[in-house]
Amino acid sequence: MRAAQLTGAFGLDEVTIQQAPEPPLEPGQVRIRVEAVSLNYRDLLIAKGLYTKKLPFPLTICSDCAGTVVETGPGVTRVATGDRVSPCFMPDWISGPVTDAAARGALGAFANGVLAETIVMKETALVHVPAHLSPEEAATLPCAAVTVWHALMVRCGLKAGDTVLTIGTGGVSLFAVQIATMLGARAVILSSSDEKLERARALGAVDGINYTTTPEWDAELKKRGIVPDHVIEVGGTATLAKSIKCVRMGGNLALIGNVSGGGDTNIIPAFMKNLSLHGVFVGSREMLEALNAAVSAHAMKPVVDQVFPFGDFAAAMRHMESGKHFGKVVIRVS
Ligand SMILES: NC(=O)c1ccc[n+]([C@@H]2O[C@H](COP(=O)([O-])OP(=O)(O)OC[C@H]3O[C@@H](n4cnc5c(N)ncnc54)[C@H](OP(=O)(O)O)[C@@H]3O)[C@@H](O)[C@H]2O)c1
Repeated sequence: MRAAQLTGAFGLDEVTIQQAPEPPLEPGQVRIRVEAVSLNYRDLLIAKGLYTKKLPFPLTICSDCAGTVVETGPGVTRVATGDRVSPCFMPDWISGPVTDAAARGALGAFANGVLAETIVMKETALVHVPAHLSPEEAATLPCAAVTVWHALMVRCGLKAGDTVLTIGTGGVSLFAVQIATMLGARAVILSSSDEKLERARALGAVDGINYTTTPEWDAELKKRGIVPDHVIEVGGTATLAKSIKCVRMGGNLALIGNVSGGGDTNIIPAFMKNLSLHGVFVGSREMLEALNAAVSAHAMKPVVDQVFPFGDFAAAMRHMESGKHFGKVVIRVS
């Protein structure tokens, strides 16, 4: 079978299609035919050597996929041949608090990932995908959507009627709009593009601000009478100070990403406002199962921006890097 791998050097063009072995299944293992893989910002950092340089080569890249079970090993009971499944981002994080070992086992970094024609996973790492989703849509859920679910539902204690601020219109932020909206909260979004703000409104965002033409967006929120209860902080060090400023007294910041880089954050207001800052790293199988149940109940459809063919990893990554995308960039494998 073929797999997209880094073999020793870093760079988007260093990810090449290699022949990889198809090992026999051990007890509890499952072979999955991968149908679609969705990309995350992390995959870009990994391919470029900006995540860590200490990777095990050859490394099959990417963490998020959907596919079909084609073979089950001895003793497998959770899934059967023909089931449509996704592996969890951290295959060994089932529930409760995360452990060092589970975090280290996250797919596509220190452990082989999923951009391959077939993968082998422990049955305990798998969840059934929502029946109404295509493989391309289902592949978007295991990292970005679970991260938002974990942040809002588990850490921030989201309630219907709350206001959620999210930054940018990438994969994480659009899931924040969709998940907050489907749970009865009000989503407010920032973007560098008025056109993307309009599209976010169509997904359910109640308001939006262009952070390029209105760089003092924290003051603009105040002017509009919007005081977020929770912030999905993907901007990082250059946006954090404004997020701290605009969130309500006693509010929640979910620290998720650092797309803006740089910055010099004054953290004094964070304690003056009795804020809770939650570091969030994806989520457990239990969280992915809860998310999938909500996605199914609400017939929610993830936003797929563009689908690239297997082998066009570099083009797909460059598209994501360009920032032109709205939602998730996906690779169709089979
Ligand atoms: N902690 C976790 O578990 C976890 C999980 C998933 C992702 N992440 C992280 O979360 C971040 C977002 O991930 P993603 O997959 O959604 O990325 P993405 O799809 O690449 O989207 C990033 C978006 O951020 C906006 N943006 C870019 N520069 C900005 C700036 N200077 N200020 C404000 N907004 C800016 C852009 O939106 P516009 O084009 O609308 O301006 C861009 O589309 C990344 O840092 C990623 O590594 C963390």
